[in-house]
Amino acid sequence: MERYREVIPEWEAFWEAILRPLPTVIRTNTLRIDPSDLRRRLERKGFDLRPLLWDETCFEIRGEIPAGNTLEHWLGYYYIQEATQLLPVKALGPKPGERVLDLCAAPGGKTTQIAQYMEDSGLLVANDDSAKRIQALLANVYRLGVRCVVVTECPGQEFPGEAEFDRVLVDAPCSAEGVARRFPHLRKGAPPGVIQRLATLQKKLLVRALELVRPGGIVVYSTCTLAPEENEGVVQSVLERGLAELLPWEPPVPHARGLVQFGEAEYGPEMQKTVRIYPHHFDSEGGFIAVLRRPQ
Ligand SMILES: C[S@@+](CC[C@H](N)C(=O)[O-])C[C@H]1O[C@@H](n2cnc3c(N)ncnc32)[C@H](O)[C@@H]1O
Repeated sequence: MERYREVIPEWEAFWEAILRPLPTVIRTNTLRIDPSDLRRRLERKGFDLRPLLWDETCFEIRGEIPAGNTLEHWLGYYYIQEATQLLPVKALGPKPGERVLDLCAAPGGKTTQIAQYMEDSGLLVANDDSAKRIQALLANVYRLGVRCVVVTECPGQEFPGEAEFDRVLVDAPCSAEGVARRFPHLRKGAPPGVIQRLATLQKKLLVRALELVRPGGIVVYSTCTLAPEENEGVVQSVLERGLAELLPWEPPVPHARGLVQFGEAEYGPEMQKTVRIYPHHFDSEGGFIAVLRRPQ
């Protein structure tokens, strides 16, 4: 990660955060239960819940037993979802009745969040290319009782069809440097070969997403890595080809803006419309979010 020293603000605070344990956050499944009822039920069981200041349906939770070991979890009343991972769907802004594609969906944290924002109406296609991970996606869709979802198994870059979707989420497979709090082996940074291989795939996924969204429709590109080659570099590749325009997005949390340059790479001022989240910003994991619109 040393190569990010010059671009990550408050480098010492960043490292301190990486070395601290990560808080557990849950998102209420509002299709099933009201957040205040969920809070009451879990507090009666001895958990301590603190609502997130920027999303009253979500709580930081502490307890003697893991948050996944409750009846309420098995009843689908909540989903354990890291705080930064709540943001891409907020940026996507799905609405009831729309057609939405989640191109890399497993295990379904964002799929079930999208369904919630759609009030379980319209059509949500949740796709992934891993049969094994799709088992978890299906289990989560079932557990949370979502009915507007169709699950498909397909390499996202080959997803069939035409420009039929109002919104597409590309929560891309990535080198995951942003989750180094949970996985210490990631603290030294991802190998360059892995980053290059993933960036090539991510560009194909984003191009296909922009073909599948209707003209004027929204595509959100998100990762949980810090590597500019997988973030700004991927977004730049579609901007240069005129496939999309970048929209500014103001997240409800402290954040940094996308990099204008990194090493030899020039990404340009436009990239400041994208968002970088670092672990010290609000005691979370790291990530990147870009909101794109397909030209009319
Ligand atoms: C970051 S994870 C998605 C997490 C998910 N959006 C969530 O919120 O629970 C990336 C996913 O991309 C999938 N994936 C990898 N290569 C893919 C491809 N070519 N097409 C579609 N999905 C792919 C992986 O199996 C993995 O489930």
